[in-house]
Amino acid sequence: MDPLNVLEFEDLARERMESSGFDYFASGAENEITLGENQSAYDRLRLFYRVLVDVSHCSPATEVLGTPISLPILVAPTAFHKLACPEGELATVRAASTAGSLMILSTLSNTPVEEVVAESDVPVWFQLYVYRDREATRALVARIEAAGCRALVLTVDAPLLGRRERDMRNRFQLPPGMFIENMLSEGLGNLPAGSEGSGLAAYFAPLLDPSLSYKDIDWLRSITDLPILVKGIVRADDAVQAVEHGAAGIVVSNHGGRQLDTAPATIDVLEEVVEAVDGRAEILIDGGVRRGTDVVKALGLGAKAVLVGRPILWGLAAAGQEGAEKVLEIFRQELDLAMALCGCPTVADIRRDLVR
Ligand code: FNR
Ligand code: LAC
Repeated sequence: MDPLNVLEFEDLARERMESSGFDYFASGAENEITLGENQSAYDRLRLFYRVLVDVSHCSPATEVLGTPISLPILVAPTAFHKLACPEGELATVRAASTAGSLMILSTLSNTPVEEVVAESDVPVWFQLYVYRDREATRALVARIEAAGCRALVLTVDAPLLGRRERDMRNRFQLPPGMFIENMLSEGLGNLPAGSEGSGLAAYFAPLLDPSLSYKDIDWLRSITDLPILVKGIVRADDAVQAVEHGAAGIVVSNHGGRQLDTAPATIDVLEEVVEAVDGRAEILIDGGVRRGTDVVKALGLGAKAVLVGRPILWGLAAAGQEGAEKVLEIFRQELDLAMALCGCPTVADIRRDLVR
C-alpha cells in the first residue's frame, strides 16, 4: 500500500511492528477518551474560507522563537524511536531536516543527543524530564547545551506516568540493546526488569520528580540560558503562571491523551490560553493533528505552530527515514492546499475569523 494520508500510515505501522511496541505508541490513558477527542475536536470545527484571493503563490514558511521553519509543523518529542526502525532518532532528524522542520528530541531517546544534533540540518530542541536526582538533571542540561540544542521543552504533565492499560497488559519493556541513551552515564538508562505492569511506569515512579512546581522553572533558568518552553498545559491560569516564571513558549498539550484521561481536547482550550498569554510568549499545540486543515485551524485559533507525535512514529515504522519524510511531505501538501482553498497565501493570512 502506498499511503495517501497520514492516517493510513498507522495501518502500515500496525502490520510492520511488534505488537507491544505498536501498543506503546498508539495507546492513551484508561478509556482513551482524550486520545480520541484530540482528533474529533478538530473535526467539529469548520473553516470559513475566503474566495477570490490570489493564491497562485502560497508559502507555509514561518518562525518559532525566532527560528525560521519551512512549515509550521514540528516533530513532537516521543520516546524510543528504535522501536519503530533500527536507525531510530537519526532517521527522524534526517526527515525533519529534509522537510525544513525542527525536531524536539525526547529525554527518553534511544540515541544520544550529541549524535542527533550532529546529524541535523535543522535546529534541535530538547524535551526535558526532571529527575529527582537534580545533579543528574543538571548534568543532562549541561550536556544538552554543549550538544548544541537551541531550546528546552519542559514537560509538566507527567509527574507520574498515566495509566496505559495496553502497556500494563503487555508488561511493556525495551527490547535488549535499547536504552535511554541520554541517561546511561548517570546510571539511569535502563527500564527496571521484571516489573509488574508497564516497565516505563516502573521507571518513572521512583526516578522522575513528582514535586516539580513553578519554582523549578526558576531553577532551570538559573542553570541554563536556553529559552524554556513549558509543555503539557491546558489551562489559561497555568499558562500565565508559566510565563510569569519566564517561559518563552507554551505547548498546549495533554501528552497525546496518554496522561490524564478525560482531559480536554487541546484544540478546544487553545484560544483561552492564547488570549490569557496575550503575546507574552509563543503558543504551540499538539495532540490529534492529522490533516493540513487541522494545522490551519490551530493557527487560526492562535498557535504559532503545531507538533505531531504519532504520525512521525507511524512513518518511521512503515519505512524508516523515508516514511517519516513522506508523512511530513503529505502534511505539507495538505497544508499548501488547505491554505490555498482558505484564501490564505501566507501563514499571516490565517486569522481568527477563518475558524468557527
Ligand atoms: C509521547 N509524548 C512525549 N512527550 C514528552 O514530553 N516526552 C516524551 O518522551 C514523550 N514520549 C511519547 C511517546 C509516544 C509513543 C507518544 C505517542 C507520545 C507526547 C508527545 O510529545 C505529544 O504530546 C503527543 O504525541 C501529541 O499527540 P499526537 O500527535 O501523537 O496525537
Ligand atoms: C510517554 C512518555 C515517555 O508518553 O512521555 O510514553
